[in-house]
Amino acid sequence: METAYPTVSQSDIILTGDRPTGRMHLGHLVGSLRARVALQHRCRVIVLLADLQGLTDNGHNPSKVSQNIPEVLADYLACGIDPGVAQICLQSAVTELADVTVLLANLVTTARLHRNPTLRSEIASRGFSEGGVPAGFFIYPISQASDLLTFGATKCPAGDDQAPLIELTNDLAGALNRMAGDVAAFSAVEHLRSVTGRLPGTDGLGKASKSAKNAIALSDEPDEITSKVNSMYTDPNHLRAQDPGDVSNHVVLAYLEAFDPEPGEVAELKEQYARGGLGDMALKRRLNDVLQTVLAPIRERRRRLIADKGYLLSVLASGTEQAREMAIRQRNKVRDVLGVTAL
Ligand code: TRP
Repeated sequence: METAYPTVSQSDIILTGDRPTGRMHLGHLVGSLRARVALQHRCRVIVLLADLQGLTDNGHNPSKVSQNIPEVLADYLACGIDPGVAQICLQSAVTELADVTVLLANLVTTARLHRNPTLRSEIASRGFSEGGVPAGFFIYPISQASDLLTFGATKCPAGDDQAPLIELTNDLAGALNRMAGDVAAFSAVEHLRSVTGRLPGTDGLGKASKSAKNAIALSDEPDEITSKVNSMYTDPNHLRAQDPGDVSNHVVLAYLEAFDPEPGEVAELKEQYARGGLGDMALKRRLNDVLQTVLAPIRERRRRLIADKGYLLSVLASGTEQAREMAIRQRNKVRDVLGVTAL
């Protein structure tokens, strides 16, 4: 079930992160959290709680970000991100990141941002009006490039949608290196594409996401899990158990493939469903059992963590402190290249 990234070596610095705008869900567990847990023992892993990036489309609703910082942190720890080996840091507390963003903004044209396909689709999906895009949101690709360059990241595990952001980062690294006259001053970032598929939403209408309310949160209570499993999209034309069923957009089967500890049995069930002779209720009962088993220990750890805000704060403070050393060095390099002298 683990994501294997064969190109990762001990000397790598991996940066990943999330906007803390809601609790994490099973889509995150499959898409990023499990990989982080595996990678943290193989190289340096920095996990960024990107609160500043969260504010870029929540400037008028900042509590949505501030309230979710402990929630997401608890999600991280409950899933096994180990603050003894990985560094979890708070974006706003590493002020060097903002310094670098302001400096790099001078090297990026607005045309380049307008062309960025990730940004374009995010602007469209948020329904911003013409001219209604917050300036902070419009430049968040520069801020994300700053995150990667300031922490000296060499690799970034992310979905395909993040490719244009990594491309911008690498173009900026190239420009800084040319200006510095040193090809190795800033390292290029390699995009580690997720090898695990995306987890569909419970409604079968695309990926699981908190905004679409079609996800099972890591913190969901047992009865919420059951009711979400029972409402999952299956083959709507599969009316009788003995009929052949369509497995192509079958959410319950997709979740079993992602979480069931017996993949061989799931493959057999899938064939049986396609042939006919297997009802949706049987699959849903199996999935409910599987998910209750996966989520019970996570929920329990999470509950204990969230009750101990002092501990959560100390984890964030020490992760931030450790990641900051590198950030200061890299920030100073960027300042040098752009001729900004420290007084
Ligand atoms: N864009 C990421 C998200 O929305 C969060 C993020 C901010 C990030 N800075 C990063 C991810 C740097 C990887 C590297 O979840």
